[in-house]
Amino acid sequence: QSSTNTDESKTTKTMNLLDNASNLLTNFLSGGKIGSMPTAEGAVSDLFSRPLFFSLYDWFLEHGSVYKLAFGPKAFVVVSDPIVARHVLRENAFSYDKGVLADILEPIMGKGLIPADLETWKLRRRVIAPGFHALYLEAMAKIFTDCSERTMLKFEKLLEEEYSRGGRTIELDLEAEFSSLALDIIGLGVFNYDFGSVTKESPVIKAVYGTLFEAEHRSTFYIPYWKIPLATWLVPRQRKFQSDVKVINDCLDGLIKNAKETREEADVEKLQQRDYLNLKDASLLRFLVDMRGADADDRQLRDDLMTMLIAGHETTAAVLTWAVFLLAQHPSKMKKAQAEIDSVLGQGRTTFESIKKLVYLRLIVVEALRLYPQPPLLIRRSLRSDCLPGGYNGDKNGYAIPPGTDIFISVYNLHRSPYFWDKPNEFEPERFLVQKESQGIEGWAGFDPSRSPGALYPNEVISDFAFLPFGGGPRKCVGDQFALMESTIALAMLLKKFDVELKGSPDSVELVTGATIHTKNGLWCRLKKRPNVH
Ligand code: HEM
Repeated sequence: QSSTNTDESKTTKTMNLLDNASNLLTNFLSGGKIGSMPTAEGAVSDLFSRPLFFSLYDWFLEHGSVYKLAFGPKAFVVVSDPIVARHVLRENAFSYDKGVLADILEPIMGKGLIPADLETWKLRRRVIAPGFHALYLEAMAKIFTDCSERTMLKFEKLLEEEYSRGGRTIELDLEAEFSSLALDIIGLGVFNYDFGSVTKESPVIKAVYGTLFEAEHRSTFYIPYWKIPLATWLVPRQRKFQSDVKVINDCLDGLIKNAKETREEADVEKLQQRDYLNLKDASLLRFLVDMRGADADDRQLRDDLMTMLIAGHETTAAVLTWAVFLLAQHPSKMKKAQAEIDSVLGQGRTTFESIKKLVYLRLIVVEALRLYPQPPLLIRRSLRSDCLPGGYNGDKNGYAIPPGTDIFISVYNLHRSPYFWDKPNEFEPERFLVQKESQGIEGWAGFDPSRSPGALYPNEVISDFAFLPFGGGPRKCVGDQFALMESTIALAMLLKKFDVELKGSPDSVELVTGATIHTKNGLWCRLKKRPNVH
């Protein structure tokens, strides 16, 4: 075993060297000039000593909202400005692709929406986005509730066992629990497959975590070392990755085959007339297969499902993790949320309608996303020359961008920008809420709700790109409402039944980051049944 590990590390080192050399060459040939931008010089230790987005924040305060980050010959443009972010993500979106992110995700997601080339993306986005229609989301509210209930039952059972031993509380890694919950929900909601991971382990579940682990590892390297010829076969970890992806793909192939065999020809309108709430299978896969015009081949469908499985799993689990982390440090806000939940739900279950009434809880979810955006960086590469507009702070004239420039839009910096937020690092869900009592309108502080009438949650349109938890423009997350509702319901069900506190100090919860911001050793919490809750 140890000699295998040594071989693996030698091979990895060689590959890194080879890749660094090829990057040097590429940069040399492309010129790599990015105008007269302020430059932050990164040391390799910045990449490994702490999450990169922390250093990007310090450099943002020092160099302004558009700066160049140089690691030796490699340079990235770091954007922390809403106007520039809006330009790259929305106004000139098709002058950029996903660059290094596509390199990382393509081996997992194939031609799924996130890494897809523009032509495939246009076609598939048109088919997939309508699948998240209002009736689907309403049906999903039931799945969110059923799955959350399963998790709460598990906690209650553990508590009862503890009572019999004379204890009153249980200690749990809530990050791991949320991860299982989110996996079960995405499986049922997207392809009607019950992973049942809250209560059991299976080869498919293990394969999902193996794949996520590798995706995470690759995200911390901004160099595609796995593309080196034969790496897939020579490096044991890469071989394991291939076999994990195959396990999931086989499972998805089976589900697609089954959905096709039971296909009912329908168009969108007919689908919408269906009694969605009573459908046995209201999943997105059912919609994609039944909908006329969705003649994608099995391979494309599988890539789409895999993309949503990966994109919608750890992201939502992370929102729940950080929401609890923040609430546990603010007991008065937890009590306020519990009072709202008690008054809205009483002894009842969460529903689509109750989400609308859980105003404070919804703001807790978005405030958690403001402080811990998932992912903290959006990645783009310019396909052609562009000119970035002048931003709020930094050079007002903007900068010329040559083709092939790698850009990081730091959502973390935008969300904690001292130029746009009062007390940017503090947990203050109320910041979004302004009651314009004279008009009876509920809105969000500093923003213009009329830009996105009826939106249940503050978004990038209302905030004009100062707050973009789901990105913006044509590549914006398709699952945003799904994820927000799922998080609101899961949090409501947890806080309805339990008081939660951190097991250790907040400082002992270390952050690590790959695709999402998560904890190093889990979010260990103490749970106690709330008085008068049965
Ligand atoms: C894209 C965040 C949940 C599916 C994105 C993007 C962000 C994001 C920031 C844009 C990436 C970019 O511009 O480079 C989140 C967060 C989630 C979440 C924070 C949970 C809280 C979900 C869920 C699904 C999903 C539940 C599916 C059910 C996708 C897909 C894309 C995407 C398919 C690519 C869209 C495209 O390129 O057209 N997500 N997401 N996400 N997300 Fe999500």
